[in-house]
Amino acid sequence: MNVTIKTPEEQEKMRIAGRLAAEVLDMIGAHVVPGVTTEELDQLCHDHIVKVQHSVPANLNYRGFPKTICTSVNHVVCHGIPNDKRLKAGDIVNIDVTVIRDGFHGDTSRMYFAGKAPPHAQRLAETCFEAMWRGIGTVRPGTRLGDIGHAIQSFVEAREFSVVREYCGHGIGRVYHEDPQVLHYGEPGTGFELQAGMTFTIEPMVNAGKRHVRLLPDGWTVITKDHSLSAQWEHTVLVTDTGVDVLTLPAA
Ligand code: MF3
Ligand code: CO
Ligand code: CO
Repeated sequence: MNVTIKTPEEQEKMRIAGRLAAEVLDMIGAHVVPGVTTEELDQLCHDHIVKVQHSVPANLNYRGFPKTICTSVNHVVCHGIPNDKRLKAGDIVNIDVTVIRDGFHGDTSRMYFAGKAPPHAQRLAETCFEAMWRGIGTVRPGTRLGDIGHAIQSFVEAREFSVVREYCGHGIGRVYHEDPQVLHYGEPGTGFELQAGMTFTIEPMVNAGKRHVRLLPDGWTVITKDHSLSAQWEHTVLVTDTGVDVLTLPAA
């Protein structure tokens, strides 16, 4: 494993990239309404990153991914590809964006509702949000990766939802996906130990039904095997001397 420790100068660049990624998600919220296509949302995010932020959309052409954002609707778990299909009232959608600025990456995603989502969908999104924050809440020097995973998994499973195992959080910096892998399940007191200066994402995917997933033939779109709803939230975080700084917080 090759886990990088960011210098204070690098940390400052990570803060800037993180803030820019969060600003894209702040901007797009008002556009997530019934009738909009995910392609239109993609175009708005792309133009914001390139023309307003003078930055680089990391997802575009990343390992052949064709768009700027991932849009994962309803039973799509992650990596949904924006297309010309219109959102309908009650759809839930995760938008995941990564901005590169001055060589450093900021990676974040949130859940949005087109119109009003049904209560069970809201509860799923809220559970995933709270699970992400419980994971973040464990982070400080000396925390082990299993502590993060356990905090997330135990909270989710107590609500009788499930945690996706095939995809995980990741170290991030000059490299989009670097060591360590940050699993969203695990045993307390096990795994790699965190140190100040590390930056990584926490990005749990939570399914309303069983945890199993299937990759569609497009090579990207991941769906729940049982077609149950799925939610995801993601922040990029920095381990500080005393705890954690979340680098991708919303402005408001
Ligand atoms: N942003 C995703 C993550 O959280 C990765 C998306 S890769 C893409 O790590 F190619 F699908 F965009
Ligand atoms: Co992401
Ligand atoms: Co990520």
